Amino acid sequence: MAILKIVKAPDPVLKARCKPVVKVNGAIQQLLDDMLETMYEVPGIGLAAPQIGLNIQVAVLDISNEKEENNPVCLINPEIIQTSEGKNTYEEGCLSLPDFYENVIRPKEVTVRFIDRDGKTKEIKADGLLATAIQHEIDHLKGVLFVDHISSLKRNIILRKLKKLKKEGIIK
Ligand code: NI
Repeated sequence: MAILKIVKAPDPVLKARCKPVVKVNGAIQQLLDDMLETMYEVPGIGLAAPQIGLNIQVAVLDISNEKEENNPVCLINPEIIQTSEGKNTYEEGCLSLPDFYENVIRPKEVTVRFIDRDGKTKEIKADGLLATAIQHEIDHLKGVLFVDHISSLKRNIILRKLKKLKKEGIIK
C-alpha cells in the first residue's frame, strides 16, 4: 500500500478524458488499494485516477461516516445509464481543489454500470450523497471538475487562487 500524491487544479491532467481499463489485473487492484488508502488518509469521500496523475477510468469512493464501518466502492470504466428528472443540491468539495466548496445541482438519482475490483460488471442505483459522489467522480474521468458546474466568474476566482497558492509553494 502507498499514499499517492494528489494533483491540485489547475493542471492539464485533470482536464483530459480518461481511457478505459482493458483488463482488471493485479496492477489495477494495487492502484485501487493505494487510491483508497490515499483517500482515507486525507480524508476524502472520493478519488479519481486523474487526481493521482493517471488518465484511466478508475475511481474510488466511500461515503460512510466516521462512526460507520468503511464501505469502499471501486469503479472501473463507470458509465451512468440512467438519471432521474429530480435534482439535488450538495455543497461539493474536491481533493484537487482543497478548501473550496460550492453548491452543485445534479440529478438526484443515478444508475451506474461499472466493473468492480474483482473484474465483475455491476450496477448500482444510487441516490442522495452517493449519487452526487458517483457523478462527481465520473466527471473527473471526463476531465470535468465540480467548478465546471458553477459560474465561470466563481470558477475563475477559485482557479486563480489555487494557481497563486501553487506559485507560492503553499500547496503542491
Ligand atoms: Ni473531486
